[in-house]
Amino acid sequence: MTKKLFIKTYGCQMNVYDTERMIDVMAPEGYEETDTPEGADLVVLNTCHIREKAAEKVYSDIGRIRKMKEEKKQSGEEMVLAVGGCVAQAEGAEIMKRAPSVDMVFGPQTYHNLPKMVQKSLSLKSDGEKSRILDTDLAVDEKFNQLSKKDVKKKPTAFLTVQEGCDKFCTFCVVPYTRGSEFSRSVDDILKDAEKLANAGVVEVTLLGQNVNAFHGISPSGQEWGLPQLICELAKIEGFERIRYTTSHPHDMTDELLAVHRDVKECMPYLHLPVQAGSDKILKAMNRTHDSASYMEIIRKLREYRPDIALSGDFIVGFPGETDEDFEQTMELVRTVKYAQAYSFKYSPRPGTPASVMDNQIEEQVKSERLSRLQALLKEQQTEFNNSVIGKTLPVLVEAPGKTDNSVFGRSPYMQAVQISIDNAGFDDLQGKIVDVLIKEGGPFNIQGILAPGK
Ligand code: SAH
Ligand code: SF4
Ligand code: F3S
Repeated sequence: MTKKLFIKTYGCQMNVYDTERMIDVMAPEGYEETDTPEGADLVVLNTCHIREKAAEKVYSDIGRIRKMKEEKKQSGEEMVLAVGGCVAQAEGAEIMKRAPSVDMVFGPQTYHNLPKMVQKSLSLKSDGEKSRILDTDLAVDEKFNQLSKKDVKKKPTAFLTVQEGCDKFCTFCVVPYTRGSEFSRSVDDILKDAEKLANAGVVEVTLLGQNVNAFHGISPSGQEWGLPQLICELAKIEGFERIRYTTSHPHDMTDELLAVHRDVKECMPYLHLPVQAGSDKILKAMNRTHDSASYMEIIRKLREYRPDIALSGDFIVGFPGETDEDFEQTMELVRTVKYAQAYSFKYSPRPGTPASVMDNQIEEQVKSERLSRLQALLKEQQTEFNNSVIGKTLPVLVEAPGKTDNSVFGRSPYMQAVQISIDNAGFDDLQGKIVDVLIKEGGPFNIQGILAPGK
C-alpha cells in the first residue's frame, strides 16, 4: 500500500534540492508525495535557520500538525513527524524538548538515513516506546554517496548540488554552523548526476552550493577543478542548453569564472552576487572579505565580458553599527549597479554568531525604515529592467502551464518570469522547449509576450 509523504520546504534552494532527494529516498519505501499534511503518514519540515522569523515559523507549524497527528492516531493510524534542515541542525535538542510531538530530528547531512529513521520510529511506536530519534551528524561524504544512485523525474529544469557548506564565517550568518565546513563533490560524481538529468530531458541545470564559486572538486585525472572547468565540461553534455550557478561570493569571483560568461554560450547572462552592504566599515564588521570597490570592479569586468548580464544581489540593512551614512552608501551602490532583481532583509541577530553580541544593535524601527527605502529602489530597478526588454525577442524556456489556459510559463536568459500567450499550441508541445518570445509587456514581477511570428 502506498503511504503519503508531505514535505514543507523553507529557506534556500539547497533545501529545495534536499527535499527532492528526500522524496527520492522514500519512494522505494512506498511513499508518495502529497500536497497536504492532513492524513499524511510522514510529515517532514525541511527548515531554515537564517533569520529569526523563518525559525519561529517552524514551531507554529509543528503546533498545527500536532493536531492532525492526534486525529490520525484516533483513527488508529500513525503519523511520523520529522524536523529536518538547518533549524534541526542548530537547535535539535531544543526542538526535542519544546515539541514532544516531534518523532525525529535530523540535520541537512543525514537525510539519506531517512528510511532507516522512519522504520525505527515506527517500530518504537508499535512497541509503545517513547524514545525519539536525533541525527545531526555533519559529515557530507556519505550522504552524496548514498544519494547518487537514485533516478530523476522528468522536468526541463533541475538543481544539481556541487558544493556544500561554508568556511567564510560572515559575522551575521548561521550557515557555517548549520551546513558545516566547505565540501566539494568529485567531478566524476557530478558528471554522473548530470548525465542522468540530461537523459531525463533537463535543458537547464542550476549548480548549487552555499559558496558555489569556491567549488574545487577532484577531476577524473586527479587534479582539482574549479567552477570554470566544471561549467565548460557540463556545457559539452548534449541536451544542456542552459547552465546557471548560485550562490556566489565576491571573494571567489575569479577572472577565469567571469570569462566563462563571455566564452561559454550555455552559461546564462545572469548572476546572483550578494554584496550585503555598500559601506566598507560595515563590510569589514561583517567579515565579508571584499569591499565596495572590489565588488564594483567585478561588476565592471563582468559587464565588459558580457554587456547584457543581469545582476541580482542580497542586502542586509541595520547591521550593528550601521549609521545613516553607511546605509546611504548601500543605496548609492545599488544606484550604480542597477540590479535586475534582489533580495533584502533586516538584520536578524542569530544565536551563536559574533554579530548577535555586538553592542551597537540597531532599533527595529530604523531597520524597517531603511528596508522599505531600499526595497522601493530595488523594485524600481527591477521594473526598469523588465521594461527594457519590451519589444525584444527573447529565447524563453517553457517550464510550466501558465496562469490561463491560453498561456504557458517560462524563464528568459535573465531569469525573468515570462507569461507567454499561446493560441495555436498546447503546453505539452512546448514544455522543455526554448521558444522565441516577443515581449509585449513589462512590470515589476513578471513580463508577458507572444510566440514570435514566423517561428
Ligand atoms: N551563501 C550565500 C547566501 C547565504 S544566506 C552568500 O554568501 O551570499 C542568504 C542571504 O540571507 C544572505 O546573503 C544574507 O543577505 C541573508 N542573511 C544571512 N544571515 C542573515 C541575518 N542574520 N539577518 C538577515 N539576513 C541574513
Ligand atoms: Fe553565510 Fe557568509 Fe557563508 Fe554566505 S559566505 S553562507 S553569508 S557565512
Ligand atoms: Fe536557510 Fe539553511 Fe539555506 S539556514 S538559507 S536553509 S542553508
